[in-house]
Amino acid sequence: MEKTDIVILGAGAAGLFAGAEAARRGRRVLVLDHARAPGEKIRISGGGRCNFTNRDLTRQNASARFLSANPRFALSALSRFTPADFIARVDRAGIAWHEKHLGQLFCDGKAVQIIDMLCDDLRAGGGALRLGVSVEAVRREGDGFVVETSEGPIGAESVIVATGGKSIPKMGASGIGYRIAESFGLRVTETRPALVPLTFAEQDLAKTTNLSGIAMAARVSHGKTSFDEALLFTHRGLSGPAILQISSYWREGDTLRVDLAPGRDIAAELAQMRQEGGKIAIHNALARLMPDKLAAFLVGEAGLSGRLADHGNKALAVLGAQIHAWQVRPVGSEGYRTAEVTLGGVSTEDIDARTMEARSVPGLYIIGEVVDVTGWLGGYNFQWAWSSGWTAGQVA
Ligand code: FDA
Repeated sequence: MEKTDIVILGAGAAGLFAGAEAARRGRRVLVLDHARAPGEKIRISGGGRCNFTNRDLTRQNASARFLSANPRFALSALSRFTPADFIARVDRAGIAWHEKHLGQLFCDGKAVQIIDMLCDDLRAGGGALRLGVSVEAVRREGDGFVVETSEGPIGAESVIVATGGKSIPKMGASGIGYRIAESFGLRVTETRPALVPLTFAEQDLAKTTNLSGIAMAARVSHGKTSFDEALLFTHRGLSGPAILQISSYWREGDTLRVDLAPGRDIAAELAQMRQEGGKIAIHNALARLMPDKLAAFLVGEAGLSGRLADHGNKALAVLGAQIHAWQVRPVGSEGYRTAEVTLGGVSTEDIDARTMEARSVPGLYIIGEVVDVTGWLGGYNFQWAWSSGWTAGQVA
């Protein structure tokens, strides 16, 4: 049977980075993936330019920007391998980048540069990458492990599980990491699609379907959590960064509050227009402040019609509330088909935060998205892949 020091399951962001780090230490590393190319999610990420980290991430805000049953779990890895550390790697590889907004860093050129950097680093340390090989199971044998693959068993002293979550099965997501963890007695928290568009019930969709394609700045809130970002009406419901962000917090049955004109006072603006001559139809008046179709929808939802001049401040306040505190009740999400990440995963209670090693299974490491650590949109999930991969790569 073929034997090596470390077999890494998954050639995504976390697996490639852990492999490069372990290989640099002189460990014999073999990275396996069933895909035909490594780092497929890196390639399509950030609209093809890979939002590879977020410069706003600090030790103070980290536990708020990552969701987990234990939000403090990620702090250890994130503070030992930081966004600045990854930026230094990117700079050393000569990859040009820029900051878009909210601390989000993107490649100037194609995301494939990041994949090339990771693969070059893996190779430079003598690590091997084998593609088109499906991992089926992992079992203990003696002090080490046997990885069962579509091409036969491979023996290893250590195994690093970096098989990602369940999102976008078409791109190779298999959920095998959860099954491997469970086969060793590790707990897996409830998993669900996150950073995902939300969908409306038929009757709501009938009212909003003609708004499909309208994008605007909005503030979307769930309880005390709010995001000020773009919102997009779709033919299935709502999308855009503000909705993707809040989707990680939303649960079936919950209502979202949407401010469609944050920082403005639409009722006051309409009252001003009324003073200047209110013969105009109320929906046409509102259409001066926002897209036409949206104005007609909101006026209808507020139960108003007729001329602006016919409406007193009370009616304008009702319309203002409709615009600044629109109550939205999605029925579901677009699911793993389009979700950027999987919320939940291998329980942090069963993993040592300082090493990413399973507490009860020496030599078994769990990193990246398969762990119950999920970041905000904006480069946080890749940073988790780098930080957790780096951590395991130092010790495995
Ligand atoms: P990842 O999913 O990257 O890798 C897992 C690997 O395991 C895959 O290559 C898969 O083929 C392999 N695998 C699975 N099962 C296997 C099996 N049975 N046998 C062999 N191999 C197997 N994040 C961010 O920070 N910035 C961004 O810009 C984006 N953009 C983005 C866009 C889109 C469309 C998506 C879907 C996601 C993002 N993300 C993102 C999220 C980011 O891609 C994600 O968090 C990381 O890729 C997770 O890295 P991992 O290495 O943990 O898993």
